[in-house]
Amino acid sequence: MGFWGCKVCNFTKFPLNSWPWKCLVLVTIVMVYKAMLLSKISWSNVNGKDGVIGLEEEWDYGVRRDKFVEVPQIVWGLNNQKIAFARACLTARMLNRTLLMPSLSASLFYKEIDQLEPISFDKVFQLEKFNSMCNGFVRVGRYSEVLNASEVVELTKGSGRKWTDERDIGQLREFGNDPYDEYEVIRILGKNPFLWNDHWPVKEYAKVFECLVLVDELAKEADRVISRIREAVPRKTGSLEPAPYMAVHMRIEKDWMIHCKKREQRSKINEICSSKEEITQRVGNIKGLNKPLAVYLAVADSLLEDETILSGWDDGLLPFEKKRLGVKDIYDKYPYLIKSAIDYEVCLRANVFVGNSFSTFSNLIVLERTQKMIHSGLSSTCSSGLSWPSYAYNIKGDFDGPKRWMTNMSDISLQTISYGTNQVSC
Ligand SMILES: *[C@@H]1O[C@H](CO)[C@@H](O)[C@H](O)[C@H]1NC(C)=O
Ligand SMILES: *[C@@H]1O[C@H](CO)[C@@H](O)[C@H](O)[C@H]1NC(C)=O
Ligand SMILES: *[C@@H]1O[C@H](CO)[C@@H](O)[C@H](O)[C@H]1NC(C)=O
Repeated sequence: MGFWGCKVCNFTKFPLNSWPWKCLVLVTIVMVYKAMLLSKISWSNVNGKDGVIGLEEEWDYGVRRDKFVEVPQIVWGLNNQKIAFARACLTARMLNRTLLMPSLSASLFYKEIDQLEPISFDKVFQLEKFNSMCNGFVRVGRYSEVLNASEVVELTKGSGRKWTDERDIGQLREFGNDPYDEYEVIRILGKNPFLWNDHWPVKEYAKVFECLVLVDELAKEADRVISRIREAVPRKTGSLEPAPYMAVHMRIEKDWMIHCKKREQRSKINEICSSKEEITQRVGNIKGLNKPLAVYLAVADSLLEDETILSGWDDGLLPFEKKRLGVKDIYDKYPYLIKSAIDYEVCLRANVFVGNSFSTFSNLIVLERTQKMIHSGLSSTCSSGLSWPSYAYNIKGDFDGPKRWMTNMSDISLQTISYGTNQVSC
């Protein structure tokens, strides 16, 4: 008798290999597993600090937690520090080790090492969140996890022209084997990680950047700035959506102009520097914007005294910088690194972003926006009208506007992102 013919469903009648029986067993297994999973999550919510911590401990098949890599203090601009941090993580991953939580630098002074104002990584980014998001890939640990502080071997990075990528990777491989691998800590000495040889593809850096989430205090400050921008332009009546905004990372301060002019001469590329006039004109030529639109100008502090950056914009584009927006007090509370991290967040979350493709700051923002676009299932093509569009104002695009810009996620190194490019892959 078949299953559907049974009126009083007596399961014991079925042989164990019949399909209804198999189905039942399968469903039961799935439900029991699900229940176990749920109880595990709620258990760790009660007992762990965050819930994710419990899960992380449960399922970590990533790098070793009892072997560590220590790196020198991470220095220079926010973008250099983010790249250096990611490079340190990827180096530790290659050695199958946990990276000991490094110090970042709050100030931009770099001539004298004692003025670098070390700031702990977890004062800027959430450590537990980082480890749970990057679980299985890379891991950052605290110095308190080290059992025997005298079990340290030093690895001195080479330098100079003779220190090639091959020699560098050879050295790392050597330190992945005994006798070095036995040591609890490998302490890397020498240059700032930003200057280490690069051995990793863009995708791996992107994965590390994705796990960097600002601590709550700073995320709230960024939210405050972003809501001021969204409120800056009167909304269309009846619209419930938050008002969109554009962010323009304007690099026109004196030091940059000198630097970019030199680079143009050296590299024989004339698409590195853009004047204020070129930027405003090109941005004004972007098609399909919902005007009036608030435009946040991410500029160096020295330009906040320069009223002319607010003039010359297209009628429908309403420019604001920190001062005009009334958020200067928010930024003024913090040192350089934090100011920069807030501006980064504001640019990252803008509906439209326009930057300079030779700026590392702009490049990292476009990298993360490209990654977001791909994750959200939006096409990874450059056709206009998609969400998260980014543009490079230093390169001429359609209708004399700026060029559409996406990061080449299949690039084999971070070279173009660290040093800039005029091939913006759109
Ligand atoms: C790191 O080491 C652990 C333990 O020896 C191993 O299970 C894991 O696969 C290794 N990870 C990598 C990325 O080699
Ligand atoms: C710590 O490591 C050092 C060097 O390897 C060793 O001599 C010492 O006995 C270790 N101490 C402990 C408590 O394991
Ligand atoms: C992206 O990078 C890869 C590897 O360097 C290269 O082969 C490819 O041509 C690049 N694509 C674009 C659109 O530039």
